[in-house]
Amino acid sequence: MRLLRTEDKILKQKNLKIGEQITPPKGKLGVLIPGIGGAVSTTFIAGVELVRRGLAEPIGSLTQIGTIRLGKRFEHRSPLIKEFVPLASLQDLVFAGWDIYEANGYEAAMYARVLKREHLEPIKDFLGGITPMKAVFDRSFVKNLHGTHVKEAPSLRDRLEEIKADIAEFKSKNGVDRCIMIWCGSTEAYNKPEDIHQSIDSLREAVDQNDSRIPPSMLYALAALESGIPFINGAPNLTVDIPALIQLADEKGLPIAGKDFKTGQTLMKTIMAPGLKSRMLGLEGWYSTNILGNRDGLVLDDADSFKTKEESKLSVLEYILQPHLYPTLYKNYYHKVAINYYPPRGDNKEGWDCIDIFGWLGYPMQIKVDFLCRDSILAAPLILDLVLFMDLARRAGMSGIQEWLSFYFKSPMVKENLYPEHDLFIQSMKLKNTLRFLMGEDQITHFGLDYYMNGEPEPAPKQGR
Ligand SMILES: NC(=O)c1ccc[n+]([C@@H]2O[C@H](COP(=O)([O-])OP(=O)(O)OC[C@H]3O[C@@H](n4cnc5c(N)ncnc54)[C@H](O)[C@@H]3O)[C@@H](O)[C@H]2O)c1
Repeated sequence: MRLLRTEDKILKQKNLKIGEQITPPKGKLGVLIPGIGGAVSTTFIAGVELVRRGLAEPIGSLTQIGTIRLGKRFEHRSPLIKEFVPLASLQDLVFAGWDIYEANGYEAAMYARVLKREHLEPIKDFLGGITPMKAVFDRSFVKNLHGTHVKEAPSLRDRLEEIKADIAEFKSKNGVDRCIMIWCGSTEAYNKPEDIHQSIDSLREAVDQNDSRIPPSMLYALAALESGIPFINGAPNLTVDIPALIQLADEKGLPIAGKDFKTGQTLMKTIMAPGLKSRMLGLEGWYSTNILGNRDGLVLDDADSFKTKEESKLSVLEYILQPHLYPTLYKNYYHKVAINYYPPRGDNKEGWDCIDIFGWLGYPMQIKVDFLCRDSILAAPLILDLVLFMDLARRAGMSGIQEWLSFYFKSPMVKENLYPEHDLFIQSMKLKNTLRFLMGEDQITHFGLDYYMNGEPEPAPKQGR
């Protein structure tokens, strides 16, 4: 009963549309990507095109192959998510974006060395037709790159207006009404919210004064929101995670989400740490190191960019383990994260974890994880899901921070004074319950005692899960 009342309140207060009221996904959906020439972006775009042509499977994408259980376990209702909620179809996605290098989609994908020729050749024409627009770039935020395909306008205001003009031109040329912008650009140098980031008025004033505390990613986010476009941040930069832009998103009724795609090592961490904690096993130390040799690795070789990434990677254990609640287990654990740039590995990152745990009576044990992963292969399906879910959120009237999409992020954005939820399984439940809520279905709490009450219907014969 309490749950129902809360749901009703949310519906009224937030003016949400649910079920059949959700605006259907009619027409094309523009996907605007700052950093479109990067490894992650090209792997995502190429993958969508291969799937559209029936040449590959969208492995790793919840929206494409995931199912969702509805109702009681004996009802055996588990539709595909894409058949349960009204998502845009892959056929309707149109891509455009900005990069500081001129390379077209095919050249950039070849440079990234993630996908093999056998995957790139059949879609060479399509990828070759994707040419990046000139980027807004400032080397003081990404020291290790020297791109030249950049906008010349001297003032931040002019650059902002140029991004907005690019968006408007893309929409009219391609007959696109709805767009989502997703930052897949390089990780920018570490910065903290300051006075200029506190309100939309102060941010706009700072733009007019060419304030050096406004990185390019923040300008793209401002341009997106001012153009009525939801914004997602795939990197750990501050970008849209400032009061000024959260306020603007709320005012404009636009959803925003971030930060930093949860892919390799942190994905593993947020799978394993909740397990250790739920069994009340203690932690002495968690040493994580990575070797990777792509352009992202080169950018992170600069201490300022690495600091942004480090903050994002370090925070997860603290929130999952809650040392203030379990001082015996987690008060003094040592947590170290390192990233080493090692060109021979390219995008094929190796992430090592040495985990020192202790059990009954304090006896020590060790766990070693050596994840030979592929960074962009893990990230690409997350971009697809995020774009489709953000578009759904927009059509359902959801605005502001989309905490239900924490599942996809290392450093999920949350409302001030709330702590972020990092446990992958809680995040997954939160996401699926939000979809159930949007479609007017009961939340699933996994309580389960009701199955054992007298008078409950007999289970139907099993038809799989
Ligand atoms: N691959 C993963 O698993 C993963 C996980 C989490 C986060 N990320 C983040 O995603 C981002 C992309 O990763 P990647 O491996 O594709 O890196 P990448 O270096 O291959 O791509 C980044 C692209 O952004 C471009 N760029 C830099 N500044 C720009 C600007 N101001 N405007 C437009 N373009 C700009 C670069 O030229 C480059 O082409 C990085 O910030 C990375 O930290 C990646």
